[in-house]
Amino acid sequence: MSDATSAETSARKCPVIAIDGPAASGKGTLSRRLAAELGLAHLDTGSLYRAVALLLLRAGSDPGDGVAAASEAMTLTPGKVADLSKDPALRNDATAAAASRVSAISAVREALLDFQREFAEQPPALADGTPAKGAVLDGRDIGTVICPDAEAKLFVTASTEVRAQRRLNELQGRGVPAIYENVLEEMKDRDARDSQREVSPLVPAADAFLLDTSALDADQALHAALTFIRTRPAFKDL
Ligand code: DC
Repeated sequence: MSDATSAETSARKCPVIAIDGPAASGKGTLSRRLAAELGLAHLDTGSLYRAVALLLLRAGSDPGDGVAAASEAMTLTPGKVADLSKDPALRNDATAAAASRVSAISAVREALLDFQREFAEQPPALADGTPAKGAVLDGRDIGTVICPDAEAKLFVTASTEVRAQRRLNELQGRGVPAIYENVLEEMKDRDARDSQREVSPLVPAADAFLLDTSALDADQALHAALTFIRTRPAFKDL
């Protein structure tokens, strides 16, 4: 098994876009839209940590139990992740909080490393069956650890207040009662855990394009990202 902290030479044949950033920065929407625009396969790597967390919660295990968490992580397959992604519980706050704890366990990150690199090396076909022209992976450590040789790297941010408001809107849109102050506090806690943990903390790669979406809507963020990506030789003709 590979060392989760090492940057290895990859066997990739098609280009990869690495998108990192904190919760509710807009990176998920941006990644999906970039994938659709450029004909790339998309992997939301947060869903892997959420899947491990949900499996642990359902098994009655503690999300901080490294042995139990790593063994759940080792059982993940693309099919299992696709099934869990349809489960509304994957997106709830309890799963998010457990995922944040699970993601600080180095054995879990190690177990999920190959899954993510395999996706980048051999992206699955698109929903309409056409072969993907490459891959876009979004998460916290894609440009720093998973694909340090990605052809384009973006670090997507927005102010904590803007991100908390976006999360509040999303929760209320799903009919979940929520209070702004509580959402803001949870956002700050999660940011602190994600950026201060010892293994693969959330930090921009040195060569990442920084995209602050605080004052941008989804179309403007897509435009700014595409403008940058098209400056990269691997994406000039896509
Ligand atoms: O992006 P998200 O909220 O779905 O991520 C869930 C948790 O997983 C979050 O606390 C950060 C963590 N995560 C990570 O550590 N590394 C990734 N590549 C993706 C997510």
